[in-house]
This record gives sequence, structure tokens and C-alpha cells, in this order.
Amino acid sequence: MEPAPVTPADRGGGRVSNVAIDFTAVKKSYGEKVVVDQLSFTVASGECFGLLGPNGAGKSTIARLMLGMSTPEAGKITVLGEKVPARARLARKRIGVVPQADNLDLEFTVRENLLVFGRYFGMTAKDVEKITPSLLEFARLESKADARVTELSGGMKRRLTLARALINDPEILILDEPTTGLDPHARHLIWERLRALLSRGKTILLTTHFMEEAERLCDRLCVLEAGRKIAEGPPHTLIDEQIGCPVIEVYGGDPNELCGLIKPLAQRTEISGETLFCYAPNPEQVLARLRGRTGLRLLQRPPNLEDVFLRLTGREMRD
Ligand SMILES: Nc1ncnc2c1ncn2[C@@H]1O[C@H](COP(=O)(O)OP(=O)(O)OP(=O)(O)O)[C@@H](O)[C@H]1O
Ligand SMILES: [Mg+2]
Repeated sequence: MEPAPVTPADRGGGRVSNVAIDFTAVKKSYGEKVVVDQLSFTVASGECFGLLGPNGAGKSTIARLMLGMSTPEAGKITVLGEKVPARARLARKRIGVVPQADNLDLEFTVRENLLVFGRYFGMTAKDVEKITPSLLEFARLESKADARVTELSGGMKRRLTLARALINDPEILILDEPTTGLDPHARHLIWERLRALLSRGKTILLTTHFMEEAERLCDRLCVLEAGRKIAEGPPHTLIDEQIGCPVIEVYGGDPNELCGLIKPLAQRTEISGETLFCYAPNPEQVLARLRGRTGLRLLQRPPNLEDVFLRLTGREMRD
């Protein structure tokens, strides 16, 4: 039976008791381009730490730096007490990785993929066979043990990659967009599995473009833009600090015209594509001004992490 879910507070979210990952003033460039810029952050043991940022912000590069697969030109990285990249090989024995793109052996079966991966960690076939049933059960792939990877759905492949990452019973999991491309059901299943891992005390570093995923799972987040940290904190603190009032989404009209109409009533407005976001402490006034206009879709809701992301990553219409 799975242990009862543990909340971030139970896990001691935010209390840096035992440092699992430490980045201090890390810099990495490719040619002229600085991809990670003076980045510092600390992840406590047992914490779920999220990296958010637009495409190209540097999230996967940070994951590679952490594994010693890429060398920083400045700064200091320590993972599980080991200096990286110098002692990355030792750290990697205690880390599990779900890379952004699946790199399973397509022609092998599910069981064979686990076996081959276990060998990388110096495990014998017997060792791997012993833990295979529990890994398959964890990934809900019991009925697929002898299926080739080519026969699996995208969600199953992702679950197999996650099961494979657990083969060495790692202390830290680095998950680079673990649910991208999955349907909502498959995504919820992975979220449940990740929560089970956190309740077992694993440390997770998660990159994601799904704000709901970050909000649900992460104790703390770091928002990046062009390799620089632009915000850090627990999801709800970021939401309160950055937004702190109800949101009205308006679509179905000309967002620029509507923006002019409601701007005087709003704390802040923002246009993203065809949607106008209105941040207003008194949403009733805004709704009253828009009521009666035909063809408009109006949605009033509490602020969320997506609002924080839109605000911080530069699509804001400045008042
Ligand atoms: N090996 C490389 N050589 C040159 N440039 C690279 C290399 N790897 C990454 N980059 C560049 O570094 C920047 C950061 O890339 P990275 O893959 O870390 O971003 P990301 O935040 O993971 O993006 P995404 O959300 O799209 O996965 C991008 O501009 C990318 O083009
Ligand atoms: Mg990436």
C-alpha cells in the first residue's frame, strides 16, 4: 500500500535543513550567448523545486550542468555533497533522470530497457529482476513488461522512463518536462506517482511548462528568463506577491479596444494573444462595464501561477 500523501509543510518545504543541490553564481555560455547567467539557488533534501521559464530560458542546460554533462565557466555546483563536474560520477549514482526527450531503446521490451539501464549502474541481472515487478507496478506497466517500446503510448513511454530513473533508488530525481505531450489523464497519473515519490522523501528538481503542475507539486519555484533568475519562492507566495487580486479573462472581442475601456478600473492589464487579462481588486466594476457587449466571453477567477509567469516573462502591457 502507498503511504499517505505528505503535504509540502509535512516535508518541511522551504526549511533548508539538508542541502541536496547548491548552485552558486553559475555561468554557462555557448559561443557569445550566455545561457545561464550568475545563477544561484539551493534545493533542500526532500523538497520539490521547480524551474520555470520560456523556451530557451536555460532549464535543460541547468539539468545538464547538475549532472556534470556540461561544464560551467564560472561558479560552483554541489550535488549531494559532491562537487560537480569534478565528482559528478559519484553524484550521478544517487540521481535519477527523466530527460526532456525520451531515450528508451525502442527495439527492446520494457523489461529489457530496465535491465540494460540497471547494468549502467553496475547492477546484476538478478538485482534488476528482483526490483522489476515493483518498478512496473509503480509505473502501472505490469501488463506491458514484454511489450516492445515501439508498441507503447506516449504516456506509457514517459512512465517507463520514470520507472527506469528509479532503478538505482536515487535520492534526487531530475525531471525535465516529464508530462509534456501527455493527455490529461496520463498527466494526472504521473503527478500522483511523483507525489508518492515525494512522500518517500525523494528530492525532485522539476522543469515544466504546465503551471498547474508546478503549483500542485513544487514547494518552491525559480522563474528564469534568458538564464537569469527573475523570481523565487513558494508558488502561493509568488502568486500573492506578484498578482494578489482576482483576475478577469476577456476574449471574443478586440483586446486592445477592450483594454482601453477597462484600464481605468484595473490594477493592471495584459494582452496575451487574443485574451485580455484584467487584474482588478474590484472585479464587479470591470464586469459591469463589459456587460451587455455581445460576443464577449468573461471569466472571473482567483489568480494563479500562469498569471505570475505572464507577468514576469515580459508580455505585460505596462500601465
Ligand atoms: N549544445 C548547445 N550548443 C549551443 N547552444 C545551445 C546548446 N544547448 C542549448 N543551447 C542554447 O541554450 C539556450 C537554452 O537552452 P535550454 O535547452 O537549456 O532551454 P530550455 O529552458 O530547456 O528550453 P525548452 O523549454 O524549450 O526546453 C537556448 O538558446 C539554446 O539554443
Ligand atoms: Mg528544455
